Amino acid sequence: MFDFKTVSDAPKAQIYADLLDAVKAVTHGESDSTANMANVAALLWQFLPDLNWAGFYRMVDDELVLGPFVGKPACIRIALDKGVCGAAARTGEAQLVDDVHVFPGHIACDGDTRSELVVPVGKNDIVTHVIDLDSPSLARFDAKDRAGITAIAAYLSDYI
Ligand code: SME
Repeated sequence: MFDFKTVSDAPKAQIYADLLDAVKAVTHGESDSTANMANVAALLWQFLPDLNWAGFYRMVDDELVLGPFVGKPACIRIALDKGVCGAAARTGEAQLVDDVHVFPGHIACDGDTRSELVVPVGKNDIVTHVIDLDSPSLARFDAKDRAGITAIAAYLSDYI
């Protein structure tokens, strides 16, 4: 149905521009939140190199609950005072963690994870979801990744 070409050694700005175009293409005209998160998780995995987990948590009754993802099975519920995801949801700020081993309260769903980027998705200043990316490499994510995923999160607030 969709066939996106990816070039993983392209500059990050180009990868994120292509990724956002692909996200728009798969969500266009579709209002089903689960379907959109599932397709976007697949695109994150396809476009971004060196990941071991990519997906969503949803805010449900003041805790985060696992949503569509690609990777190993993960913790289902995360309290807002726990983990990198909880910090992003609680503060509304993206969390860029170079070394998860030194992040207080990091939740190790996959022991291979060494760095993590979590970006909140919000509507009217209320966090509704977070996008979580994990990598087996230290310091895999930088400000360009944060900006790229933040742009995707801003777009997705109307689609998930
Ligand atoms: N490491 C996350 C938990 C979610 S998994 O990485 C998929 C955290 O500390 O919140």
